[in-house]
Amino acid sequence: MNILVTGGLGFIGSHTVVELIKNNHTVIIADNLVNSKLEVLDKLHQITGIKPTFYQIDVTDADQTERVFTDHQIDGVIHFAGLKAVGESVAKPLEYYYNNLVSTMVLSRLCLKYGVGKFVFSSSATVYGENEVPFVETMTLLPTTNPYGETKKISERILEDTSRANPGFSVNLLRYFNPVGAHESGLIGEDPNGIPNNLMPFVTKVAKGEMPRLSVFGDDYPTVDGTGVRDYIHVVDLAEGHVAAIEKMGEGVSVYNLGTGKGTSVLELVNAFIEVNGVDVPYKIVGRRAGDIAEFYADASKAERELGWKAKRGIREMVRDAWGFEKNNM
Ligand code: NAD
Ligand code: UD1
Repeated sequence: MNILVTGGLGFIGSHTVVELIKNNHTVIIADNLVNSKLEVLDKLHQITGIKPTFYQIDVTDADQTERVFTDHQIDGVIHFAGLKAVGESVAKPLEYYYNNLVSTMVLSRLCLKYGVGKFVFSSSATVYGENEVPFVETMTLLPTTNPYGETKKISERILEDTSRANPGFSVNLLRYFNPVGAHESGLIGEDPNGIPNNLMPFVTKVAKGEMPRLSVFGDDYPTVDGTGVRDYIHVVDLAEGHVAAIEKMGEGVSVYNLGTGKGTSVLELVNAFIEVNGVDVPYKIVGRRAGDIAEFYADASKAERELGWKAKRGIREMVRDAWGFEKNNM
């Protein structure tokens, strides 16, 4: 298939491009580089031997984006392009609503206009809110606490309504848990600008000596060791989930959790990082972070049943590859 990957130079998008090419798809990337670098395109070339067609465009711009659809016979769209920093979304709500919602609407409209019947969307476990664990796709979604989470909920709704009204337009909504790790080549990975908010990029910066120590946000949660528990998923497993999702597209709208189904605490992850990589990660327990949930992980059985996809890589591979990429970029 000819697949348009928006945000294809970003963290999850770039790994998905590799897996799509491995599975003989032709990839066309659209990215405005707001949170990625052009050199990722060369890294994709190095890994796959193929340099995908690249459009440096903003996918909220309908005219620029339409050019991609007139230049190529697109069979499917995987829409990663979006802003994703939770704290920033509270400070800049309009930027988040505009970027994340207009991009979804522009792309859906173009799919209808050009008869593109397969659409895969990057949603997030954040849409579940503070639900019971494990999170199951059939749960009623509870309120989210920030504009970022709302953009995911509203995008899901826009795509559901659009698909219902246009039966030829099929959508897979993928709710990611906590993507971490990197490609085993160490050439592509997660490279956030500035001080990272998420746990794994922070751990790698501390291991590298760029930050003095990790602050562990709370050790008094009702979890295995008192620290927060999450369902970390290796980004290459996640990327493989997208290949399955675009290849096994059903009718209408389907929702899938992409997680491992297994929770890991902050201290379990940090200790695995230290042990597997043989490096020190100094940390200090501090107070809880506002808005944090004690524990969440996926019921990942639907994706296995219907897409034939299951995460294969564990925490040890995740910490090894996260460090492999960081070391390569020292
Ligand atoms: P990322 O920032 O690394 O990648 C997003 C890419 O989209 C970047 O390359 C950026 O330059 C591009 N982009 C943003 N707005 C654009 C626009 N208007 N036009 C063109 N390009 C644009 O983020 P990621 O971690 O790879 O996340 C990809 C998607 O998955 C996002 O939608 C994100 O919200 C979602 N998601 C991520 C996580 C996570 O923890 N990483 C979890 C759940 C969901
Ligand atoms: C965050 C986002 C969420 C997004 C998810 C996956 C928030 C409030 N939520 O959630 O929308 O879908 O990432 O990318 O930002 N931790 C520390 N010290 C740190 C950083 C984190 O102890 O310096 C702890 C947290 O308290 C949490 C765990 O590590 O228990 C994971 O945190 P993080 O990586 O930020 O992910 P989420 O909180 O799951």
